[in-house]
Amino acid sequence: MKGLILSGGAGTRLRPITHTSAKQLVPVANKPILFYGIEDMVEAGITEIGIITGETGAEIRAAVGDGSRWGAEVTYIPQEQPLGLAHCVLIAREFLGDDDFVMYLGDNLLRQGITEFVERFESDRRASFSPTLVGPASAPSAQILLARVPDPQRFGVAELGPDGEVVRLVEKPVEPPSDLALVGVYLFDPSIHEAVAAIAPSPRGELEITDAIQWLIDHGHRVRHEVLEGWWKDTGKLQPLLEGNRLILETLDLDLRGRVDDRSLIDGRVVIEEGAEIVNSTVRGPAIIGERTRVVDSYIGPFTSVYFDCEIVGSEIEHSVVLEQSRIVGIARIADSLIGKQVEVRRSETRPRATRLMVGDHSVVDLA
Ligand code: DAU
Repeated sequence: MKGLILSGGAGTRLRPITHTSAKQLVPVANKPILFYGIEDMVEAGITEIGIITGETGAEIRAAVGDGSRWGAEVTYIPQEQPLGLAHCVLIAREFLGDDDFVMYLGDNLLRQGITEFVERFESDRRASFSPTLVGPASAPSAQILLARVPDPQRFGVAELGPDGEVVRLVEKPVEPPSDLALVGVYLFDPSIHEAVAAIAPSPRGELEITDAIQWLIDHGHRVRHEVLEGWWKDTGKLQPLLEGNRLILETLDLDLRGRVDDRSLIDGRVVIEEGAEIVNSTVRGPAIIGERTRVVDSYIGPFTSVYFDCEIVGSEIEHSVVLEQSRIVGIARIADSLIGKQVEVRRSETRPRATRLMVGDHSVVDLA
């Protein structure tokens, strides 16, 4: 089995962060989201991984490299334009060959990994091929993962038939037929190649993977499904990204590799990475402070990830994600925030007293 990770696309919903960088590289608990997908694949025994890249391809390559860090072998497949998830399968044809594969959306984060999901697909295929077993007439050609969500309009949605089988899939329906959203992890056998070649672009101009799977169903293929039990986040927007950060932080253990002075207090599950320094400050977990970051006279509250080479001085911050090389100085309280790379947030003594801003396009500033 091979792996295909989709890491192209535009990332419009995380602007301005994604004006300059790939949304799949935004760190969650100080690790790029994309890396969780690679780790899930390797854990499931999949080491031949193709990564679809778009405009931010150079940055993705620089971050992932050849995959040897994970014991994987990565092949990059550039996509000229984000023409849809099924288009990604189309252009990966040569890499995929006639192997079964797992397709993983590079901005999806799920708790339980994919090992058992992959195993059940493979064992169902083996069992269905066995001449001694009575059971489903055919082996499944695809397997999808569904999750109950309160806002199905934002996702691909599955409708189940009277016997609990998937009968219809619709992409971002105005009137969802159920609350079962498609999670961004799919398993396919080579019949998907015929499907992606047969479908036409959707009204939004994309070749939809939901349409390709619908094509399989309409042409008599069995599409197996499972309903997810653990949590799952499509991190393409701010709130789910912060929630994903909170959920991952909750799984970390206390690990103090950096320096904590004796006037500081570390409370709960906190990770202080190599070369970080905590001076006269309180860090209340779960939280992570990145390599070489300095926290001075400050309070870092629960569910906060501060990436590497940052400086937090005389400030309070909680339930937030701060990207690399940013400085926050003299700010009473920051919460529920995503702060980009090399950002400076500071309090100045300059008169007249005013809020002076230089904020990128599509930014949101929510003043107390
Ligand atoms: O997150 C789950 C949802 O993902 C599913 O419920 C939907 O059925 C599915 O269509 C997809 O919807 P999104 O609108 O969230 O997809 P998005 O455009 O964010 O793309 C998902 C990932 O695939 C993201 O990492 C970017 C990448 N991508 C996307 C497109 C359209 C590509 O690499 N190339 C593309 O052409």
